[in-house]
Amino acid sequence: MLDRALMNLLCNAGKFTEENGAVSLQLTEHAADDGTGSYEIRIRDTGIGMSPEFVERLFTPFERERTSTVSRIQGTGLGLAITKSIVDMMGGRIAVRTEKDNGSEFTITVDFPLAEPDEEICSDEGEEISFEGMRALLVEDNMINMEITQMLLEQAGFLIETAENGKIAFEMTAASEPGYYDVILMDIQMPVMDGYMAAQAIRSLPDSKIAGIPIIAMTANAFQEDIRKAEQVGMNGHIAKPLDIPSMKATLQHVLKNSSV
Ligand SMILES: Nc1ncnc2c1ncn2[C@@H]1O[C@H](COP(=O)(O)OP(=O)(O)OP(=O)(O)O)[C@@H](O)[C@H]1O
Ligand SMILES: [Mg+2]
Repeated sequence: MLDRALMNLLCNAGKFTEENGAVSLQLTEHAADDGTGSYEIRIRDTGIGMSPEFVERLFTPFERERTSTVSRIQGTGLGLAITKSIVDMMGGRIAVRTEKDNGSEFTITVDFPLAEPDEEICSDEGEEISFEGMRALLVEDNMINMEITQMLLEQAGFLIETAENGKIAFEMTAASEPGYYDVILMDIQMPVMDGYMAAQAIRSLPDSKIAGIPIIAMTANAFQEDIRKAEQVGMNGHIAKPLDIPSMKATLQHVLKNSSV
């Protein structure tokens, strides 16, 4: 996942630096003895730099500095918003130092728990089921959340199809072959049709196999009330946003294990 964040930064450094400029990446490990390793990644370029006014809006989706140079360079302005979400999700920090016409330097700092020397990396303790090749329908109206969740699920082995609101998700599910989707991950607050309504509609489809597809709610504020409502409309579990990778996988394990028997 971090590779995705670094690719975004390196790609920008390359894009916003003239041909005879330079781009560098430096990785520093600060070993700590409390079981975590702290890493600092610095990506530096000698490119066009940014104005202080723009830096304040740098991580906002769709923001691009309005200079004649930037307007000739391709981009949507999502790269840094996604990069920041990834770093936040990993509990890290991102900082920037830049000056107009004088290059930029992005610094990411992240801590990772260090593996024990004798820790088994691939222990198959318990009967974990494999997500490899399982097909999930991801329903989410926020483009950034969608990109990130899709990336996480694909890394876990899922094949992903996406829908941007509950109505589209319902239609895709209703038109699917029984057994086609293994699981549906459903955002709750969405325009057109929210997650509760979509789940209810899916549960009332005539084909019992389709109507019974496991549905997991993704709730921004995991209040007891939301969880109760998700259960009431027949959802099988919930995960809280911002997503936490281990607990997301644990919920998927739990729900899919119980549905595959
Ligand atoms: N290394 C850099 N040097 C100069 N300006 C930069 C640099 N990185 C980002 N910017 C400025 O920040 C804006 C937003 O960057 P971001 O990566 O979010 O979008 P993008 O590169 O324009 O498009 P996308 O990444 O979605 O393809 C850029 O359009 C540019 O104005
Ligand atoms: Mg970019």
